[in-house]
Amino acid sequence: MSQSTSPSSHVKGPTEPFDINVDDASFAKLAEWRKEYGDIVSVTPLQRKSQALVLNCPEHVRHVLVGNHRNYSKGVGFERVKMLLGNGIIVSDGDFWRSQRRMIQPAFHRKIVGSLAAMMVTCNERKQADWQAKAEQALSINLTEEMSELALEVILRALFSDDLDRLIESTGSNPFSMLVEDVTRDLKLAMRFRALTRHVAHIMDNRRRESRIEHDFLSLLMETKDKDTHLPMSDKALIDEVMTIIVAGHETTAGTLNWAWYLMSQHDNIEAELHAEVDALGADPAFEDIATLRYTRQLIDETLRLYPPVWLFSRKAIAADELILDGQITKVSQGADIFLCPYLLHRDPRYWDRPDECLPERFSDDQIKERNKDVYYPFSLGSRRCIGEFFSLVDMQLHLGLLARHFTLHHVPDKPVDIEPHINLRARHSIFMRPEVRKA
Ligand code: HEM
Repeated sequence: MSQSTSPSSHVKGPTEPFDINVDDASFAKLAEWRKEYGDIVSVTPLQRKSQALVLNCPEHVRHVLVGNHRNYSKGVGFERVKMLLGNGIIVSDGDFWRSQRRMIQPAFHRKIVGSLAAMMVTCNERKQADWQAKAEQALSINLTEEMSELALEVILRALFSDDLDRLIESTGSNPFSMLVEDVTRDLKLAMRFRALTRHVAHIMDNRRRESRIEHDFLSLLMETKDKDTHLPMSDKALIDEVMTIIVAGHETTAGTLNWAWYLMSQHDNIEAELHAEVDALGADPAFEDIATLRYTRQLIDETLRLYPPVWLFSRKAIAADELILDGQITKVSQGADIFLCPYLLHRDPRYWDRPDECLPERFSDDQIKERNKDVYYPFSLGSRRCIGEFFSLVDMQLHLGLLARHFTLHHVPDKPVDIEPHINLRARHSIFMRPEVRKA
């Protein structure tokens, strides 16, 4: 491959124009280019207007997400997400984002998450009963779909409490299940999903009419006020944030659990170590056990390293900027499209020994201390770091802790197990498992 002109002469890239997207072609190209051109790749756009830079080293990731983050707004691809989420915090920028983030942040405080943990356990106990019945009949389960349903239920109950049951009763089924049933995230799905905002508005109206405050995210968002203006969110903003939390919290968690079980099913030693940890609890885990479930957490961290759900980040440079590495300056022009790929950095052999192998002990305290911490960023870094990180970690630890105490999942080979780099990195085909009840 020959090399194109670029913003700084040391920066190389492919000659053929290309627009980077969240799809198979871009996934393959990004890996190829990193091998060929290294830490910074300059890509000439095909239909877009701006030159793109792909940044493959932790120093530049930190610069864009932390050091000079105010100069980088959300980038290409977020227009599509906007159709789903309106102007929710995952897509908004600037002062509006800052005000929304400040108002939403308290809802994700450890104490609130802790108080939602009992609900997470209840959802998992239902799953346990279901797997017990399946195991007794030697039936297999569609793990990918089940993790999707479970993650969706947890997030909907965290938002709506028992109003979810009332909604299901009045409409005959869970209208949000479309996110499980229809895995495309295309325009048609976006329109159908936006139509669900009426249910959120209805729940809000009922709560206001009944002066009812629940212990859940929705009531916290309805009550919160901007600390400068002392005004609550508009209903439009509130609904956008609810839809954002559903989408941001659902597929990411579901995908991670799907891969975690799959990895366990492929590594007897990992499964044995996790079993030893959960068995030592003596009872099913509760929120208080989260700190004890250290190996479970290491498996989750390793799963997020190998399969980061948000595998590609895009940003746009608001003004011209400079990236500096080993004294060398790379110019970033105003409007440049920036791409960061945690998937590639998480598997970069310069930072990870045996990068493609699943080794949860990489996330022991000692090994974490020895590593550059910016080579791992499944939840992003800096002020736009995932707001639901703690919620999802508790959710996933409780799930694995509880279900792995009772079951071993045996992989039932069906279609090839492969990744699909879509908006999220997910399994291309559903993964099937046969649950076996573990002997006491
Ligand atoms: C394994 C689970 C999860 C992963 C890997 C994950 C990852 C991420 C990442 C990488 C971002 C930053 C995206 C960017 O800046 O372009 C993000 C933002 C966000 N996440 Fe998560 N997430 C997870 C679970 C959740 C959950 C459970 C929730 C809600 C309950 C949630 C809510 C959000 C929100 C609202 C944002 C936008 C934050 C902002 O821009 O201020 N996420 N997440």
